[in-house]
Amino acid sequence: MTKNDIFFKTLVFIACLLPLTFLITNFFLQKLGANPVETIIRDTGLWSLRFLMMTLCITPLRKLVGWQWGMKIRRMLGLYAFFYACLHFTAYLWFEEFFDFAAIWTDVMERPFITMGFITFVLMIPLAITSTHAMIKKLGGKRWQQLHRLVYLIAITSILHFWWMADSKGVLTTPIIYAVIIAILLLMRIFFLKKSSKFLGK
Ligand code: HEM
Repeated sequence: MTKNDIFFKTLVFIACLLPLTFLITNFFLQKLGANPVETIIRDTGLWSLRFLMMTLCITPLRKLVGWQWGMKIRRMLGLYAFFYACLHFTAYLWFEEFFDFAAIWTDVMERPFITMGFITFVLMIPLAITSTHAMIKKLGGKRWQQLHRLVYLIAITSILHFWWMADSKGVLTTPIIYAVIIAILLLMRIFFLKKSSKFLGK
């Protein structure tokens, strides 16, 4: 790794911590609004989804405009998506359910948007665990790639989680915007896959 790479990665690492820094600062300044718990849960959920979307942007950007530098931070962005999902889940467990595991289980079983959030979180775990170079080696490139295709399913389940949550409150504008962006990113992926299989004569 060159000195420039280290500098660039450190900068991105710090930038990714900014949403958490703002959240903590606003907490201590008592600027999280009338319902701080809701703000914490919502902010961390939104940032998890945003980092997931940034991760999904890297390959299209490389193929469309040749931005190779994105590949250097893709893993970090994916891990930040998981990091914010952990904060989101912890905030829900702690501040909303007070670690009442019976109530949490009922919530997961009976509220479809919570079920979908839980499924999304569980699907993220194997990707986070296998994100290291050692794990790529252990699994082999092909199997690792197959496993990491789960990210497309995660993109869909996270949008369903967001959509169903917002639908129950009758405010669908923001999830629609996120869903359209995710749909474009997934369609681009299908387009690139088709193009490369044509190139290989498949
Ligand atoms: C065990 C897993 C999860 C649980 C229990 C959970 C629970 C929740 C809850 C309680 C809310 C707030 C609902 C409200 O304000 O009334 C929420 C919102 C949200 N969650 Fe999750 N969630 C989980 C996983 C995830 C994951 C993995 C993501 C992203 C990849 C995510 C993204 C979001 C988003 C985007 C929102 C909406 C934020 C907004 O309203 O602006 N959640 N979730």
